[in-house]
Amino acid sequence: MCGIIGYVGHQEAAPILLDGLERMEYRGYDSAGIAVRTIDGLQVKKSKGRLQVLSDMVRGGADLPGTLGIGHTRWATHGEPNDINAHPHVSEGGNIALVHNGIIENYMELKDYLMSKGVKFTSETDSEVVAQLLEFHYNECHDILEAVGRVLRRIEGSYALGIISSDMPDALIAARKDSPLILGYGADGNYIASDVTAVIKYTREVAYMDDGEIAVITPDGINVFTSEMDPVEKEHKTVDWDVSAAEKGGYPHFMFKEIMEQPDAIRRTVFPRIRDGRVVLDDITITKEYLDSVTKVFIVACGSSYHVGMVSKYNWERLLRRPVEVALASEFRYSDPLVDENSLVIIISQSGETLDTMAAMREAKRRGGRILAIVNVVGSSIAREADDVLYTWAGPEIAVATTKAYSTQLALMDLVGLYLADLEGTVSAEEYAAVVEELQLLPEKMEKVLEKKEDIQYFASRYFNHNSVFFIGRNLDYAMGMEGSLKLKEISYIHSEAYASGELKHGTISLVESGTLVVGLGTYVPLFDKAMSNVVEVKARGAEVLAVTVESMKEKMEKNADAIVAVPDTHLVVQPSLGIVPLQLFSYYVALMRGCDIDKPRNLAKSVTVE
Ligand code: M6R
Repeated sequence: MCGIIGYVGHQEAAPILLDGLERMEYRGYDSAGIAVRTIDGLQVKKSKGRLQVLSDMVRGGADLPGTLGIGHTRWATHGEPNDINAHPHVSEGGNIALVHNGIIENYMELKDYLMSKGVKFTSETDSEVVAQLLEFHYNECHDILEAVGRVLRRIEGSYALGIISSDMPDALIAARKDSPLILGYGADGNYIASDVTAVIKYTREVAYMDDGEIAVITPDGINVFTSEMDPVEKEHKTVDWDVSAAEKGGYPHFMFKEIMEQPDAIRRTVFPRIRDGRVVLDDITITKEYLDSVTKVFIVACGSSYHVGMVSKYNWERLLRRPVEVALASEFRYSDPLVDENSLVIIISQSGETLDTMAAMREAKRRGGRILAIVNVVGSSIAREADDVLYTWAGPEIAVATTKAYSTQLALMDLVGLYLADLEGTVSAEEYAAVVEELQLLPEKMEKVLEKKEDIQYFASRYFNHNSVFFIGRNLDYAMGMEGSLKLKEISYIHSEAYASGELKHGTISLVESGTLVVGLGTYVPLFDKAMSNVVEVKARGAEVLAVTVESMKEKMEKNADAIVAVPDTHLVVQPSLGIVPLQLFSYYVALMRGCDIDKPRNLAKSVTVE
């Protein structure tokens, strides 16, 4: 939820910290701060608002000379976004500065304890408690590493921590539990960061910290220990994407760039997994024998990843001829889920760090379920804890509103569904071949939809000032509409809802009046006529209808819609992958016309590592 960076080496730390924070600003952007060990001791600068405010305040880092420092960009949980609650937090004696991502669940109890010992607090955050507790134990034992160990044994909850101390001129300490933290090995120094994007400009050699580990980072190396202080040999990984993948590259927004990147992202995710017309999933070990033993299939995720699950439910039930239950991770984890050793649980997550999803996965695993994770971020917690993982090769996704990660998840779920259905023998050879062929044609067809962006921009200019929008459709169109609706509301702040068309008449149609904007989805051809009747019903009540359909149905749809976007026809399993593109573009242009902060919408952050 927040972004952490730390550097120690032979370069000036502050510019590196600011640059890393800029690359991670999507993780949280209500305040930011840096702490650098200067010749005058620890110097901390922090500020409410976007990173630029901080950067201007310290003149791009020039005001904080020193080669050791930590930085933080925040998404507030405890205490409002202001200068005081911003990180780094400094202990009362000024000896320790710390950045934290996660939530300290027993912070009140620890705060009361420290206050009873006379410690004075300045912020409302749970994170300051860690800084104060650290100084408290340091004053007892005068060994910073020992003090960190004592603190970690007392705090409960989740954390990624970066710690510097005026008594430790050449080292920073990091610790992790349930919150991502990577170690970066550079030529001119070493790094910690919440995300590879923060350090990719400086090094491609990274290691992923595991829960319970503590790291001591110096200019010349990184030593990692278990919570019992036994040394750990970390496996180094090489990041294989280029720094430009995490930059705008001339596009006005990351979201627009990522929408346009979708055809290539699909090529990377799908093409290597189809050989000679067959789906090949080298990375997973599911066999026919195992599948025969499976009695329940669950798909668990949050937000857009959950919407992928909704689409996949329709597709998998069609292909596999067995029930598939889709659950919101935040509900599933507390629902006493009926998972057992005969359950296959599909976990979908772009970041691989969403706390609710991770907790749901752990709960399913505890009950004996087998976990197959669909993840974008390599080495993320979910990827490492799942029994099997399949990566979407979308590349780094920076915009808070997901687009290319959603599309690659969808395509990959089609491949997995097809693979399982083939093992089960529930899909005909003709249908198998048709889906495979259409998945291979998908990037090209997507490009055709992207070429229509000016039309969609025009429709956005007609409708951007509506304040309430309904997305209606049946079957796969309903599932796709859920994602279209989320896209619109999260970046343009327009209230919108997705409805199964047939359900409107059971209450919600009372909200439709003259001028209400309805996005009528008619890409699911088997139920096109039914969907059309529902469009006619809302038209009759005064709605303005923007329709999304397939080229083969365009003419029919034209009779009832006020505006229409037609996408190429494909196999119906694959159709939502095309239908979603105009909805993404529509949301983008509407948000643009409303002057919204598209890549960093209010109240949101990219990776939701809190409950
Ligand atoms: O990283 P995840 O896929 O686990 O994230 C889940 C949701 O937070 C995410 O899909 C969210 O809904 C999107 N930012 C919406 O665009």
